[in-house]
Amino acid sequence: MNVWFAASEAVPLAKTGGLADVVGALPKALAARGVDVTVVMPKYGGIPEEWVREMKDRGHFYVAMGWRRQYCGLLETVADGVRFLLVDNEYYFKRGYLYGYGDEAERFVFFSFAVAEALARSDRLPDVVHCHDWQTGLVPFLLRTRYAYDPGLRNVRTVFTIHNLQYQGVFSRGLLQDLLSAGDDLLGEDGIEFYGAASCMKAGLMYADKLTTVSPTYAREIQTPEYGEKLDGVLRARAGDLVGIVNGIDTESYDPMTDPYVRAPYRQSLAKKRLNKPALQEELGLQVDARTPLVGIVSRLVRQKGMDLIGQALPELLQERVQIAVLGAGDPDFEGMFRDAIGRYPGRIAVWFGFNEGLARRIYAASDLFLMPSRFEPCGLSQLISLRYRTVPIVRETGGLCDTVEAFNEYEGTGNGFSFGPATSHDLLYTVRRALAFYEDEEAWARIVANGTKRDYGWAASAKQYEQLYRTLAQ
Ligand code: ADP
Ligand code: GLC
Repeated sequence: MNVWFAASEAVPLAKTGGLADVVGALPKALAARGVDVTVVMPKYGGIPEEWVREMKDRGHFYVAMGWRRQYCGLLETVADGVRFLLVDNEYYFKRGYLYGYGDEAERFVFFSFAVAEALARSDRLPDVVHCHDWQTGLVPFLLRTRYAYDPGLRNVRTVFTIHNLQYQGVFSRGLLQDLLSAGDDLLGEDGIEFYGAASCMKAGLMYADKLTTVSPTYAREIQTPEYGEKLDGVLRARAGDLVGIVNGIDTESYDPMTDPYVRAPYRQSLAKKRLNKPALQEELGLQVDARTPLVGIVSRLVRQKGMDLIGQALPELLQERVQIAVLGAGDPDFEGMFRDAIGRYPGRIAVWFGFNEGLARRIYAASDLFLMPSRFEPCGLSQLISLRYRTVPIVRETGGLCDTVEAFNEYEGTGNGFSFGPATSHDLLYTVRRALAFYEDEEAWARIVANGTKRDYGWAASAKQYEQLYRTLAQ
């Protein structure tokens, strides 16, 4: 079985969120099952030099997009055991950030054409092309339309995975039609048209052979108007081809015993884990006190992650004997909200704005609790990393958080975390207070942490499900 992944980010080359973790780790787990995976992604300017040095030239060609003709180089490297094919065009990808530019449509139409062309020129075609999120939604579209008559490509099947339905790559119809040189028939309701505009996410949903998303609960939720982001109708129509497969984490990379960023290594021992707390308190300018429960937050600072709920709850939350360590980047309003809190509660809340892999891992290791009150959550990896680092998650019951965190039941002694249903700051506060009460009860706490170690958060089981899905297609 030979599979190509097409994605816009992957660990260890480029990361803004969980997508990169998945695209970096799943191929390794598939390889362990004998599946041969190549990840195709853009060669961004920010890829660390140590990987760029290793890249081998695999030729080049030109991509025709509307009236444009753009250079596309292919580079190959093996990073962390995974084979990468990098799409090289400095005009589109040698920039400071991965996303957020005015020509996003053009960049990812280019990338999608590059993937299709690389396939057409490959001497060893994959059985399946597995595409991830809107940036690659046009790959299945191109393979089923423009490249449909290519005798080789005709037999290549496609899988499209939704990591987050909220980000859709919606652009004006005229712009996408021009870039794709597509006929009017492809821009109608049965094509990529979306409420008068055109959508790359919808292209993936309409044209891929199979659809997946990253947890069973989210797979159900997105078929309802509440979570469907106006695509619930399309998803209901394709319900028979849609499956939810829960994410794992790379348990080798996220291992508090060998993680190079963790100061006091540990695995089972809570006492050893707790040595990490004073060190982090000192690093972040929090009052150094091993007894005060520390709540960690590592997150994109956006409404999806329930930042507004945290903001409303903060003043009351900080009345408790608790400290909060936040690492995140995103919406300036939420950054302002946290800046304000630092001024009011010095030594009680610390915030680091930006992306910082090492600090993220130190927060996972040092915190007693991890707060993730998402309004929606396709899967979520942060709660899995927390569980792996013996940090008890407090989550809202939505999407993948439902499938991975079980609320502690003090009567049965079951459960690996705490959770609440209604998206209100009141429910959040109530649940954090409940968790803090159990934190004081050493025996109950040890039980909750131990329950968290019973499950394996690795990729093995889910990789098997992906492989089975590929096999149903490749027959
Ligand atoms: P999402 O992909 O929606 O942002 P996930 O929970 O699936 O959420 O994955 C987030 C990933 O990004 C985790 O590995 C988390 O530790 C990491 N992360 C999020 N924000 C930061 C940050 N500011 N610095 C470093 N890592 C971060
Ligand atoms: C998205 C989702 C997150 C998921 C990640 C990886 O960023 O928001 O829930 O874990 O993709 O699939």
